Amino acid sequence: MTQSSRSVASPRVVSIADFRAIAQRRVPRSVFDYLDGGAEGEVTLRENCRVYDDVTFRPRHAVAFDQCNLRTRVLGFDLALPFLLAPVGYSRLMHPMGEVAAARAAGNAGTAYILSTISGHKLEDVKAASTGPVFYQLYLMGGRGAAEAVIERARVAGFSALAVTIDTPVSGIRERDHRNGMKELVSGGPFEKLPYLPQILSRPRWLASFLLDGGIPALPNVVIPGKGPMPLVDVAAALAESAVTWSDLTWIREVWRGPIIVKGVLTADDARRAIDEGAAAISVSNHGGRQLDCVPASLRVLPEIVKAVDGQIEVLMDGGIRRGTDIAKALCLGARAVLCGRAYAYGLAAAGEVGVNRAIEILRTDLDRTLRLLGCANVGELNRSYVNIPKSWDAD
Ligand SMILES: Cc1cc2nc3c(=O)[nH]c(=O)nc-3n(C[C@H](O)[C@H](O)[C@H](O)COP(=O)(O)O)c2cc1C
Repeated sequence: MTQSSRSVASPRVVSIADFRAIAQRRVPRSVFDYLDGGAEGEVTLRENCRVYDDVTFRPRHAVAFDQCNLRTRVLGFDLALPFLLAPVGYSRLMHPMGEVAAARAAGNAGTAYILSTISGHKLEDVKAASTGPVFYQLYLMGGRGAAEAVIERARVAGFSALAVTIDTPVSGIRERDHRNGMKELVSGGPFEKLPYLPQILSRPRWLASFLLDGGIPALPNVVIPGKGPMPLVDVAAALAESAVTWSDLTWIREVWRGPIIVKGVLTADDARRAIDEGAAAISVSNHGGRQLDCVPASLRVLPEIVKAVDGQIEVLMDGGIRRGTDIAKALCLGARAVLCGRAYAYGLAAAGEVGVNRAIEILRTDLDRTLRLLGCANVGELNRSYVNIPKSWDAD
C-alpha cells in the first residue's frame, strides 16, 4: 500500500472535503488550483456549493426499510448509483492513470464515466478499463475533420453516448492558472518556467510520477488530419477556434447516430432548443463555475428547466455536488441523476484509482444514509415533497 492510499483509507477521511485537503498536499499548487479553481471572481464556483444550504429537507420519520434502492436509468442504462463521473480535462496531470483510473472506478461502482476530449489517455484504453457505460464528451477542437474521426473511433470502441458541451466558445479565465504560470509550465521555454518551478519541486513524489509518465503528452483523441495528435499547448487557442453552435448538432447527430447529451444548459430556452435539436438528455451545468462567472448555481435553475422540459427528455445536472445530501436535493428538484466533477477528481489527485473508489463510496454511503433519514426507500421516489425551497424560487 502506498503512502497516499494509506492516507485515504484512514478512518479520518470521511468527506470529500478531506480528500480536497489531501489532494492539496499531494499535487503542486498549479495542478491543485487548476482542479479546484473557477473563473474570474469565482462567484459561481462558490454559489454552486452554497446554494444547497438554501434547500432543507422534510423527512418522514418512523419509517424503516431493509434496503435502499439507489439504482436509476440514464439513457437506457441501468446504473447502480444516481451519479456519474463528469468529464474532467487533464486528469492525467492529477495522476498518471488519470482517465483510465476514473473510468475503471466508475465501472466497478456500477456507474458511467464521461471522458473529456482533453484526455491524456486514448479513448480505446479508457473504454477498455471500464465495465460500465462510457460516454465521450465532445469539443470540436481541431476542426470538423478531427471531430468526425474521433466520433467514429468512439463508436468503434463502444462508447454509448456523446456529451456535447455548449458553454465553451472560449475558455473562461481562471485567474489562479495565470498566477501559477500554468501556460508557461505547460508550453514555455526553460527561462519562462523558472519562476514557477519551486511549487513543482516542493511535490517531489508527484514530480517523479509525472516524469516517469513521460511528462505532458499530446492529446491522443484530438488527431488533426494530416498533422497528428494536438499538442497540449494548443488547447486554449483550439477551443477559441471551435465554438459549437446549434447548427453543428445536426451534423454531429448524423455522424454519431446515438444518444446525445447537451451539457451546459442554464435556461429554459436552451433546454427547449436542445429538445428541438434531438438531444436525448441535457445536463444543467455552468461547467463547475469555470466558464462565465456570475451565472446562477446549477441547482438554482434546475426547477425552471425541469418544468420547461416537462419529461420530454432526461434532465441531468452538475455543479457543487460534494455530499450525498446534495445529490438527494438535486433529485428532489427533478434531476434524474447528477454528474460529479471535483468530488471524484480530488480523490484522483489524492490517491489515483483508490482515491476515486473511496470518493464514490463516500457519496454512496452518504446518499444511502440520507434516504434512510428521509424515510424514502428509493431514489426514484424523491420529489419536491421531501424538500423546502425558498419562496422566491417558486415564483419562477
Ligand atoms: C479540472 C476540471 C476540468 C474540466 N474539464 C471539462 C471538460 O474537459 N469538458 C467538460 O465538458 N467539462 C469539464 N469540466 C466540468 C465538469 O464536467 C463539470 O461540469 C463540473 O466539474 C461540475 O462541477 P463540480 O466540479 O462542482 O462537480 C471540468 C471540471 C473541472 C473541475
